[in-house]
Amino acid sequence: MITCSAPGKVYLFGEHAVVYGEPAICCAVDIRTRINVAPADSIIISSSLGTTGIDFEVHPYVSAVVERFQNMSSLEGVSISIESEIPVGSGLGSSAAVTIATIKALDSLLGIGLELDDIARMGHEIEQRIQGAASQTDTYVCTMGGVVMIPQRKVLDLIDCSIVVGNTNIFSSTKELVANVAELNEKFPDVVGPVLSSIGKMSVTGEELVNAKDYVSIGKLMNINQGLLDAIGVGCSELSSFTYAARDSGAYGAKITGAGGGGCMVAIAPHELVGGVAAAIASAGGEVVVTKATDIGVRVESL
Ligand code: PMV
Repeated sequence: MITCSAPGKVYLFGEHAVVYGEPAICCAVDIRTRINVAPADSIIISSSLGTTGIDFEVHPYVSAVVERFQNMSSLEGVSISIESEIPVGSGLGSSAAVTIATIKALDSLLGIGLELDDIARMGHEIEQRIQGAASQTDTYVCTMGGVVMIPQRKVLDLIDCSIVVGNTNIFSSTKELVANVAELNEKFPDVVGPVLSSIGKMSVTGEELVNAKDYVSIGKLMNINQGLLDAIGVGCSELSSFTYAARDSGAYGAKITGAGGGGCMVAIAPHELVGGVAAAIASAGGEVVVTKATDIGVRVESL
């Protein structure tokens, strides 16, 4: 059996603005999806959702990866099992992680030898096929790991502080939120345009701060970023209450991560205060994941 894993991700700066060509900074986080593969007579895909063959309803991403490998090799049967620590549909990159880890696992099983760039590209094409549209961000960061400035794909220093994610468990549609921002931008271009470019400037300033390991300033900038995300209508009361809870209990800074409207927020905090920050978000009603940045992208865990 071969086991491969891939990480989730958070946005430190720049979601939504990145859709308008502004830079963003993403960080791979140490919550992972693991894929086990073994030779079998037929296609068997199992997860907490059940056991299926190729099935685009239950296991769309893994099914698409299997079809892709069937087109480029003589793959007839394989048993694939999925174990994920990444909450599904919450903006933490769960679909990218399952896609990328499955590509790496089948690549290893079949001895094809894909490069990381090929894996990221194939993962993006599969996300596009399943979702209709997808940015390259999640698949790229999850393949490479680390802190990455996009669209430049510049790798920054790893951040060395605690990362706390607060999940509202409120479903949010990235497509809908991106459309809402576009509508607001069409209605008030002179107002919303500068907000989006200001968010982009935070990523530029953030790059220097990440490399300088100035977490106090990064946190302040994340708080400003949160204010601007609220201004363009992608906040909600739960996200606000979790971000304030995190800041009030000693986080350097806190903001929405991803599309907003629900989904998750992220706080960065000194290691020694992380317990209090996690407890504050939990008592405000959030489902909490305490994690850290990781420079380990997709990898083979065991052969
Ligand atoms: O919630 P997520 O992880 O799908 O992130 C969405 C990020 C946006 O900038 C809002 C959209 C995008 O495609 O970049």
